[in-house]
Amino acid sequence: MSEVKKIAVIAGDGIGPEVVAEAEKILKKAEELFGYTFETEHALFGGIAIDERGTPLPEDTLEICRSADAVLLGAVGGPKWDNNPKELRPETGLLGIRKALGLFSNLRPAVVFDCLKDASTLKPEVLEGTDLMVVRELTGGIYFGEKLRRQGEHGEEAVDTCVYNVTEVERIVRQAFEIAGKRRNKLASVDKANVLETSRLWREVVNRIAPEYPQVELEHVLVDNCAMQLLRRPSSFDVIVTENMFGDILSDEAAMLTGSIGMLASASLGEGSYGLYEPVHGSAPDIAGQGLANPIATILSLALMFRMTFGYEDAAAAIEAAVAEVLDAGHRTSDIAVDKSKAISTTEMGDLIVAAIRKA
Ligand code: NAI
Ligand code: MG
Repeated sequence: MSEVKKIAVIAGDGIGPEVVAEAEKILKKAEELFGYTFETEHALFGGIAIDERGTPLPEDTLEICRSADAVLLGAVGGPKWDNNPKELRPETGLLGIRKALGLFSNLRPAVVFDCLKDASTLKPEVLEGTDLMVVRELTGGIYFGEKLRRQGEHGEEAVDTCVYNVTEVERIVRQAFEIAGKRRNKLASVDKANVLETSRLWREVVNRIAPEYPQVELEHVLVDNCAMQLLRRPSSFDVIVTENMFGDILSDEAAMLTGSIGMLASASLGEGSYGLYEPVHGSAPDIAGQGLANPIATILSLALMFRMTFGYEDAAAAIEAAVAEVLDAGHRTSDIAVDKSKAISTTEMGDLIVAAIRKA
């Protein structure tokens, strides 16, 4: 018997429970096929937690997350809670959980599935072979620096401050080198070192750490140039590491290479192997409860968990191959279907992927 891996499962609101249920079927299949053992514990979070417990992030949910090896999250939020005061909003829980669990990086893979190349707005020949990962710093930079309003010489002024310390840069840069070393050994560090002091510090730290990873080919790319190169030559990137605001913008740009938000996975990592895995999309209240949601983003997030937290590369690769096989066979949920009348449901997509998972 393999070691028991504990997973905190947070379904959340809207389509969250629908897509998470499909990922749980995959967990079961991975146990049968690969002999792994998972112990799942469900926890309340988001709007449903506000309704039942009066807070988006109950203390026992945090306890369940802390005692697990990884967290699988669906999505939270919805119109029902939109006009609540800040502390009673589902999104406040999202910031709170990342902070409480010490998660400092957000990873977003952008993979173009061959058969979905025509779903993107870019030319298929530009997208060919695109398989990149944006590693975004989550805890520092201008989003968290001191902010103020004041009267200046020419009237009202606003100030945002961008601060990074060496420790914050080191931990994420090291993580990005590690990730690149397990992929295609290429790292692009993105900054604005020609103008910003924080970027100069960032680049110094990257250059200091680089010799520890001689097998990884490093390039420094200015952020404006990176925005262009992502559209010009996306397949030339492997891992991109960057600070918070640049990463926010570039990860959304990279996401659009792939077509649909229903396909995009993400991971948030802290020290060690602990991680929180979730689809990039939200709770999609417009389609909730109708069996229309694409479960692939959540299923691919689970594959990332297997790879990055558990080191179960065989199962991770098998899940990704199964997703590609089902798409290649022409099966589509309505978000990625050209002919919507032939679209399959959330559970049909989940079942097809489960059936396609094979041991190599
Ligand atoms: P959204 O991602 O929920 O939906 C945007 C559009 O994409 C909608 O038309 C939706 O139907 C579609 N869509 C999303 N996921 C899909 C899937 N798996 N399959 C098929 N179609 C899909 O973003 P929106 O509408 O801006 O936000 C809705 C709620 O979700 C809000 O309350 C928002 O705050 C919350 N939200 C939560 C996030 C999280 O839990 N991490 C992230 C983003 C938004
Ligand atoms: Mg964004």
